[in-house]
Amino acid sequence: MKEIKAIIQPFMLDQVLGAIRELEGFTGVTVSEVLGWGKSRATNAEETVREGSFAFAKKTKLEIVVADELFETIADIIARAARTSRPGDGKIFITNVSDTVKIRTGERGVAVV
Ligand SMILES: Nc1ncnc2c1ncn2[C@@H]1O[C@H](COP(=O)(O)OP(=O)(O)OP(=O)(O)O)[C@@H](O)[C@H]1O
Ligand SMILES: [Mg+2]
Repeated sequence: MKEIKAIIQPFMLDQVLGAIRELEGFTGVTVSEVLGWGKSRATNAEETVREGSFAFAKKTKLEIVVADELFETIADIIARAARTSRPGDGKIFITNVSDTVKIRTGERGVAVV
């Protein structure tokens, strides 16, 4: 299994989820509102949020765990759907997931996703 962590522009969320929602094997997503910056340190952000001495851009984080066969397809679709080609479009990070547990049933492994 892999985890796809995508940091995107908040206004692209609807388009991104719309592009992947019908995919077989895409069974869940966690969505969070986050603050951050990349190499350009939020200097291009229309709106920033100040925390202490730093100014952050508002972003949306998607966390999606999927079977190995599916992560490249999903990451590609997210990248295309989230792209405006302007600075601040975000990034996708992909990591290995060693196990999952479904709390209700105790089921484990790839069957959970
Ligand atoms: N190396 C990183 N580690 C963790 N989070 C990151 C990293 N780079 C970017 N992010 C997250 O992605 C968001 C968007 O980054 P952004 O697209 O602005 O990157 P960038 O490197 O500044 O590229 P660009 O020049 O296109 O703006 C950041 O606000 C931050 O939340
Ligand atoms: Mg940037």
